[in-house]
Amino acid sequence: MRQPPSLQEHRPANFGGLWLALCATVFMTTACTDRKTPSDDRWSGSGELIAMSGGEGGARYACATCHGVRGEGNGYDAPRLAGLPAGYLQKQMEDYATGLRPHEVMRDVARFLDSHERVRVANHYAALPPQAVSPATDETIAAATPGLYARACQQCHGVDGVGTVNGPPLNAQPAFYLTQQLQDWQVSKRRNDGNHVMLKVAQQLDAAQIRQLGLYLARIPPRPASPDR
Ligand code: HEC
Ligand code: HEC
Repeated sequence: MRQPPSLQEHRPANFGGLWLALCATVFMTTACTDRKTPSDDRWSGSGELIAMSGGEGGARYACATCHGVRGEGNGYDAPRLAGLPAGYLQKQMEDYATGLRPHEVMRDVARFLDSHERVRVANHYAALPPQAVSPATDETIAAATPGLYARACQQCHGVDGVGTVNGPPLNAQPAFYLTQQLQDWQVSKRRNDGNHVMLKVAQQLDAAQIRQLGLYLARIPPRPASPDR
């Protein structure tokens, strides 16, 4: 916590009530409120600062290390964040923190941020232009895959995977990452989808289809979601 130490040390021993009253009136936005006010940028940096520095967790948790300086992802296991919906990004941070979406690194990353910082860093990435690492193109995509996507996924994830209100963008995410998420849902490791929609979807796919859908979506260029999202 970031209560200024000088205020703690000088707390009068026998004037608890007086102290509280004083605290409530004079130090409302500093000592008493534990940096929970959204505008309180002195205590926790802007979204961009968190992205570059990792916030209170330190450099080890700097988002840019794994998700790229432009939020483009690492083309492998760390997804692009640039241009994803702010609400979706924030929800993932909450889900990592509670373990509904289990991942050791992201759990620690999320837990070092308070809820306001999660909102800020989510807003920062949502506002960046969608960018991604160029995908590998050495594997062929089966002719049936776009049709499978249109039938089984498009309703929620949109034409070309750009996302809708019912599902996040999938286009231009790393193939490995997408495959990993679908596998996690198949075995109910990732459990943060309302009504288990993705669990049910994933359990109807075989390994080859999962691999193919990952490759297909990774090759669709990054672009903003349609305005009706
Ligand atoms: C050491 C590497 C590393 C760091 C640092 C890191 N991440 Fe991640 N992040 C990952 C990996 C790997 C995943 C994929 C985890 C999974 O499979 O669920 C991920 C996933 C995510 C997701 C889920 C995106 C989606 O499409 O569902 C969000 C959101 C996210 N990270 C935000 C952040 C933010 C914000 C920070 C900085 C405060 C950060 N990450 C720092 C490696 C990292
Ligand atoms: C009924 C709606 C629905 C359908 C159909 C659907 N999804 Fe999803 N999908 C969702 C929702 C909702 C989420 C986000 C869950 C959350 O909050 O983490 C999601 C998330 C995902 C993610 C994780 C994205 C990320 O950034 O981590 C992948 C991958 C995915 N879906 C793939 C697919 C594929 C492939 C299909 C078709 C085979 C499909 N989905 C069909 C609703 C749907």
